[in-house]
Amino acid sequence: MGESYFCFLVGVSLLLPIVLSTSASASHRWDGVIVTQADYEALWAVRSELVDPLGVLRSWNGSSLGACSGGWYGIKCAQGQVIAIQLPWKGLGGRISEKIGQLGALRRLSLHDNSLAGAVPQSLGFLPYLRGLHLFNNRLSGSIPASLGNCLLLQSLDLSNNFLIGAIPASLAKSTKLIRLNLSYNSLSGPIPAGLGQSSSIAFLALDRNNLSGPIPPSLGKLSLLEKLSLSHNSIDGTIPEEVGGLLRLKELDLSFNSITGSLTGVLDQLKNLSTLNLRNNRFQGDIPPAIGNISSISRLDLSENNFTGEIPLSLENLANLTSFNVSYNNLSGAVPSRLSERFDSSSFVGNIQLCGYSSSTPCPSPPPQSSSTPSPSPEPPAGSGNRKLKTRDIIIIAAGILLALLLALCCIILCCLVRKKAAAKRKSGKPPTPMGTSSEKVVSSGGVEVESGGDTGGKLVHFDGPFVFTADDLLCATAEIMGKSSYGTAYKATLEDGHQVAVKRLREKTTKGAKEFEREVASLGKIRHPNLLPLRAYYLGPKGEKLLVFDYMPKGSLTSFLHARGPETSIDCQMRMRIAVGVARGLNHLHTVENIIHGNLTSSNVLLDEEAEAHIADYGLARLMTSGSTTLVGTAGTVGYAAPELSKTKKPTNKTDVYSLGVIILELLTGKSPSEGTEGEDLPQWVASIVKEEWTNEVFDLELMKDTTNIWDGLLNTLKLALHCVDPSPAARPEVQQIIQELEEIMPELAEKPAGEEGAEIPATTSEG
Ligand SMILES: *[C@@H]1O[C@H](CO)[C@@H](O)[C@H](O)[C@H]1NC(C)=O
Ligand SMILES: *[C@@H]1O[C@H](CO)[C@@H](O)[C@H](O)[C@H]1NC(C)=O
Ligand SMILES: *[C@@H]1O[C@H](CO)[C@@H](O)[C@H](O)[C@H]1NC(C)=O
Ligand SMILES: *[C@@H]1O[C@H](CO)[C@@H](O)[C@H](O)[C@H]1NC(C)=O
Ligand SMILES: *[C@@H]1O[C@H](CO)[C@@H](O)[C@H](O)[C@H]1NC(C)=O
Ligand SMILES: *[C@@H]1O[C@H](CO)[C@@H](O)[C@H](O)[C@H]1NC(C)=O
Ligand SMILES: *[C@@H]1O[C@H](CO)[C@@H](O)[C@H](O)[C@H]1NC(C)=O
Ligand SMILES: *[C@@H]1O[C@H](CO)[C@@H](O)[C@H](O)[C@H]1NC(C)=O
Ligand SMILES: *[C@@H]1O[C@H](CO)[C@@H](O)[C@H](O)[C@H]1NC(C)=O
Repeated sequence: MGESYFCFLVGVSLLLPIVLSTSASASHRWDGVIVTQADYEALWAVRSELVDPLGVLRSWNGSSLGACSGGWYGIKCAQGQVIAIQLPWKGLGGRISEKIGQLGALRRLSLHDNSLAGAVPQSLGFLPYLRGLHLFNNRLSGSIPASLGNCLLLQSLDLSNNFLIGAIPASLAKSTKLIRLNLSYNSLSGPIPAGLGQSSSIAFLALDRNNLSGPIPPSLGKLSLLEKLSLSHNSIDGTIPEEVGGLLRLKELDLSFNSITGSLTGVLDQLKNLSTLNLRNNRFQGDIPPAIGNISSISRLDLSENNFTGEIPLSLENLANLTSFNVSYNNLSGAVPSRLSERFDSSSFVGNIQLCGYSSSTPCPSPPPQSSSTPSPSPEPPAGSGNRKLKTRDIIIIAAGILLALLLALCCIILCCLVRKKAAAKRKSGKPPTPMGTSSEKVVSSGGVEVESGGDTGGKLVHFDGPFVFTADDLLCATAEIMGKSSYGTAYKATLEDGHQVAVKRLREKTTKGAKEFEREVASLGKIRHPNLLPLRAYYLGPKGEKLLVFDYMPKGSLTSFLHARGPETSIDCQMRMRIAVGVARGLNHLHTVENIIHGNLTSSNVLLDEEAEAHIADYGLARLMTSGSTTLVGTAGTVGYAAPELSKTKKPTNKTDVYSLGVIILELLTGKSPSEGTEGEDLPQWVASIVKEEWTNEVFDLELMKDTTNIWDGLLNTLKLALHCVDPSPAARPEVQQIIQELEEIMPELAEKPAGEEGAEIPATTSEG
């Protein structure tokens, strides 16, 4: 299981290990492919115009033999043609040669976070298969070549943070496969091209921090998949076109720092998924529409520095998720709804002369029935004549407030510095071959199911609900490392170019169901969500029937390695072991009672742990994706040590065989012994039972659990009894999973209170270790 990095490739050689890095092991080398002469010459030309102070391109040497067989750093090939150049964060200077346009099979050019100057090559327009062009965070100048519009398969175009000038070429609209377009932080001018509305697959559109002018074109309303739209810090004017109100998937809308006028009423009514709305520093007028109070998902709302009038609608009090709110510097009047003034401090409201009731110095005029003759229309604080004592108290409160604010600000600055330092350190430590590091590409949440067809290759990627958005190409060109093999297929740890990691399982094609049936089954697996079940995030169907499943990557690995392959200095306390036990039980209970799924192969290597050591069961329901012949094979075999004794006869996994496996895992947690190690011919349950019978009970526990406890904690004994109950040779005698959860919660009540996934690892007094 050496470090073998290679590209998942679509097409002829899908998933054949094609070495990309210099450190790759020879065993995965795919020799015999010589780069074409044309590509070889183009690579040399590209190299000759780059400045390489860190020497990462030293490996681009010698004959054409090396280029595609893994010798040349950052190059990926298919059939002797270069399909990817990935050299981010390499300190590269110089310029990008126009000769790059000769690499006719290039799909991805990723040179972001370098110091490249010069122009974006025109010749990129000759690359019909280009899908990803990532040149952000460089010093590129000149204008965006209109020829890019010829790259009809382009999915992700990020030229942000350069010195690009001129207009956004209207031709980009021809790239109808675009998912992400980021041109922010440049000096682009002119209007937003109306044609962009034709790129109907765009989900992320960032044109912020340029010098764009003119109005927002109504055609943007056609981008029905748009989730994020940022046009801030430009010179955009006009009103928000009504059509924008039809962008139902929109989650973030940032139009701040422009010169947009008009009123909002109507526009926001349908944007029910909006979480961020930033209209700061524009020229909006009219009332704040009460309908905003119906956008329950909204968490950030900034309307400051505009010309809004009227009262703050009471309906805004309904927004439970609102964490950031600002209406300062408008022309609002009346009383601030009390629940808003309680949640947000006065800096959210200042600069509205006729607004009152948001701080002690802006009391609202008392209601009319009050004795005083004429209530002043001005909400200004009563002048000098007021109560003297009250005034001193006010001053004290204000002074204390200012002091607190200063202290807070100081804390923030210190924190910021620390975080920056850390991030910088992280970036520095990121070293080849994995393209890790802190990418400026954002992680965005995807709602619902998205389908992307893999263009000419005929592959298909389907996302389920989850935190990452990646394209088929991102996935197939990820850097991968084998984690393990099972009867279902091979598992990889894949690092996407932006540094995010996912676990990919490539299913054995021969034993997997046909595409139609497979898709039906996998769609139901993709809906399963429980804190103790590893979520399926996406699947990929290749043009030749290849099937990949994408899961969350669990950084702590399997329970097997966590327990048995750790260094002597890491100890696992009792609380953590109990938490893992109850987590596995909860996950299994959800499978049995809600999903009606029998796991059939529950082992400690199928229990994965996240950063907080929370347990997530993997490999559930996969039998459904397999042909019936193969399932019996997988199911009946079980795994030695975890398989219930009756399985050898019945060959049919049941809820009770799952309970048996759970019992073995709990014994494993308690004893620290691996069931597969074998203890003189006995399996783990037999070994424990024999010792308990001889009343040497304490001998079974992991020494680590006994270290600091001279008096053994009753809970351990009770857990041991429970586990032995689970591994009873008679299936009927074993408890249901629900019962196991209950008993574990009784043994350690703190496990019951908090929802899974949130509790920290507190160490109980009985088992504290140094
Ligand atoms: C070419 O690069 C490889 C890999 O870095 C290195 O081992 C080899 O010595 C280099 N050959 C020459 C002639 O520089
Ligand atoms: C666009 O690029 C900027 C600067 O590189 C970055 O901060 C931002 O997150 C990107 N936005 C999207 C949607 O990719
Ligand atoms: C922005 O564009 C306007 C014309 O639309 C121009 O006058 C101004 O100089 C530009 N500003 C910058 C910083 O490029
Ligand atoms: C908010 O939604 C409710 C129910 O959907 C509706 O009756 C009400 O009119 C809406 N309020 C506004 C201000 O749109
Ligand atoms: C409010 O926030 C919570 C936690 O982030 C989230 O689970 C919930 O869905 C949000 N509510 C709405 C209406 O978006
Ligand atoms: C705000 O609106 C008022 C009238 O509604 C207008 O007189 C004033 O000029 C506007 N101010 C700005 C900064 O647009
Ligand atoms: C505030 O609004 C009032 C009308 O509601 C208008 O008379 C006044 O000019 C506005 N003030 C500013 C500074 O725009
Ligand atoms: C609200 O916005 C104003 C100006 O736009 C800013 O000065 C103030 O700090 C903001 N307050 C909060 C709480 O964000
Ligand atoms: C809103 O978001 C949810 C969850 O992210 C998604 O299921 C739903 O389809 C979205 N609504 C629309 C209209 O896109």
